[in-house]
Amino acid sequence: MLSISFRHMPARITTALALTLLASGAIAQSSDPIKVGLMLPTSGTFAELGKTVVNGFKLYVSENGGKLAGRTVQYVELDDESDPSKANENANKLVKRDRVDVLVGTIHSGVAMTMARVARDTNTLMIVPNAGAAEITGAMCAPNVFRTSFSNWQPGYASGLLAARKHKTAVTISWKYAAGDESVRGFREGFEKGGGKVIKDLNLPFPNVEFQPLLTELATIKPEAAYVFVAGAGQVKFVRDYAAAGLKNNIPLYGAFITEGTLAAQGESASGLQTALHYADGLKNPKNDAFIASYKNTFNATPDVFAVQGYDAAQLFAAGLNAVKGDTKKKAEMIKAMEIAKLESPRGPLSFSKSHNPIQDMYARVATGNQNVMTDVIVKALADPSPDCKI
Ligand code: PHB
Repeated sequence: MLSISFRHMPARITTALALTLLASGAIAQSSDPIKVGLMLPTSGTFAELGKTVVNGFKLYVSENGGKLAGRTVQYVELDDESDPSKANENANKLVKRDRVDVLVGTIHSGVAMTMARVARDTNTLMIVPNAGAAEITGAMCAPNVFRTSFSNWQPGYASGLLAARKHKTAVTISWKYAAGDESVRGFREGFEKGGGKVIKDLNLPFPNVEFQPLLTELATIKPEAAYVFVAGAGQVKFVRDYAAAGLKNNIPLYGAFITEGTLAAQGESASGLQTALHYADGLKNPKNDAFIASYKNTFNATPDVFAVQGYDAAQLFAAGLNAVKGDTKKKAEMIKAMEIAKLESPRGPLSFSKSHNPIQDMYARVATGNQNVMTDVIVKALADPSPDCKI
């Protein structure tokens, strides 16, 4: 720690010295707040998910007295509306106008890919607390870009392995954008590895919720199982429509996120649905017990996977900041510390692959009342292969 006594120096010299130190960053670091740019949706289909990620991030910071590495945290928040066409302008506002120290976002894969491009071009530290787009930790991977959630392949692949335990044929339904396409690709790989075959992929544009024609087609094909990727508010309607169409007891429905955070709204229509994800309600580990209690106490609500991903984004940022005692100018050192971080996450042990994507256990869950209850671990320490990432 740098400590200089100014008491016995002439004023002229103290001023010059202070200016030099200020320019070098040695003084500014401890007094200036750290600026966190939260670019997440607060409107549209993914509004709830965005708010929950933000809750998780802020919870970690407030558990640490509102500071990270001794510096106060200041938030700059922006609604990205899950609109890829506005992503470039929004991300640039946070980076160039607000000069944030870290860009945190977002939910939608298409928006996050543009954010990652901006972060790469401006060498801004970025942490993705949800969007699973393969490119972010694949072809576009960068030293300054990290993800605390998943690649779309991970939960898709685990869901495929899960469905293959009981079924031989499946049809997929998904929103036609990066997350839907990649999730379905992951499902197919897992399902085929388990001996199954995907016989048809059906899709509709994001965030369309006119599911009826696809459900009619599914009923005609009569596969042994179905896999769906739609999310946020869309998943509530999908699960209700699926049950109302009389499909629930005839073609078992699988998904990754399809019941996450929405069981209260889905009610009986979701009961018994099987999913695969990197978190489960009431998962038994000391960190999760404490996390659930702290989250309930602060927000009067039960946390879900989105809260965990936001919480871990703050934890990961803190791991970098602590290594440089809050001096964000030491970016290379910060990145090194983040790369080797071993976080105690509410989801279980969390570390990062070479491409900066989580290595994590994938859980089989079954919707029981208002909980996605874990039944077993489908794959331990699953890493995205990320063959295109050259860091
Ligand atoms: C995505 O766009 O990557 C995405 C959105 C919502 C989810 C999962 C993935 O629940």
